[in-house]
Amino acid sequence: MKFNYILILFSSLIIYSCDKSEETFKPGQLWLDNNGVHINAHGGGFLFSNDTYYWFGEHKTEGEAGNKANVGVHCYSSKDLYNWKDEGIALSVSENTSSLIVKGCIIERPKVIYNTKNKQFVMWFHHELKGKGYNAAMTGVAVSDKITGPYSYIKSVNPNKGIWPMNYPDSLKILGSNLGKFKKWSKEWNKEMEKGAILKRDFERGQMARDMALFVDDDGTAYHIHSSEENTTLHIAELTDDYLDFTDKYVRALPNKSNEAPAIFKRGDNYFMLSSGLSGWKPNAARSAIANHPLGPWKELGNPCRGTKEAINKTFYSQSTYILPVQGKQDSYIFMADRWTPENAIDGSYIWLPIEFENNKPIIKWIDEWSIK
Ligand code: GAL
Repeated sequence: MKFNYILILFSSLIIYSCDKSEETFKPGQLWLDNNGVHINAHGGGFLFSNDTYYWFGEHKTEGEAGNKANVGVHCYSSKDLYNWKDEGIALSVSENTSSLIVKGCIIERPKVIYNTKNKQFVMWFHHELKGKGYNAAMTGVAVSDKITGPYSYIKSVNPNKGIWPMNYPDSLKILGSNLGKFKKWSKEWNKEMEKGAILKRDFERGQMARDMALFVDDDGTAYHIHSSEENTTLHIAELTDDYLDFTDKYVRALPNKSNEAPAIFKRGDNYFMLSSGLSGWKPNAARSAIANHPLGPWKELGNPCRGTKEAINKTFYSQSTYILPVQGKQDSYIFMADRWTPENAIDGSYIWLPIEFENNKPIIKWIDEWSIK
């Protein structure tokens, strides 16, 4: 009798804990998926389709080696943004050593957009070749007819080979620079960098593309935003109407301001960009900027974070990856960032915070636990 009672109590406890759904965001804490496993989708990108949110991110594994692409791009789905279902690996690394996306290469910050013309889901990601550190600085593209994949890898490129940026003055369009003559970060060196010394260096082989983001404007035009010129200058490049290639239109944005981790969103007639500085996996102070077109010109708005000095200087120990406009809610945007743990990559957590606006400037404050109003 007593045993039966305990059994009933125990099974109800199990049923309760399985049924318990999340109703809040708890930034930085363990975030379990439908299988009770910490969500594994770092440097994430989001897409809303068919009343469902999809989350794509880097599948990390244990240890320091887990920062490499040992598995691929992981996908999750959710109706409410709090509870996520594991949809498996959307883009798998290859076992074939002749493939550029061979296991052990680097695949970071994957982003997926939907191309209405071809009815295809298009994934772009920062791609580094196996064994070559971060030297390749390429962007890769893969497609699928189904949002959750499997995605087929097409190619990786150093974009805009042999093309000058639209906003680059004719007077500077001469290859070669004086960069080598100056001490790194000296006044003269900075001037050369600002004038595009690395842009010119890479003109013939194609430009560097590291931390990246995608943005689809209301008219369907898609833009690829990436850290270029040794991470000192952002390039914002228009994609072709199938989203699989670059048109010849691109600009240099915030030259020599060293922005990484870009994320663009639109609010009213304004485009906003959140980004970070350069300190690898270690957090630094976030930046923000505003424009009235994705191709700029971009005007810096400063650090969007509010709180303690430490929190502001380190973006709450995180680095931006995406800004999500909440569906059906006016003026509701979520700042999404990664709290990296490079020594055990798989432990990385997610910092999601609401964006407020003060005088048309994005503002982010820490909240331990919150939900969408
Ligand atoms: C960060 C970047 C990450 C990753 C890391 C490697 O600055 O945002 O995506 O590339 O460097 O050190």
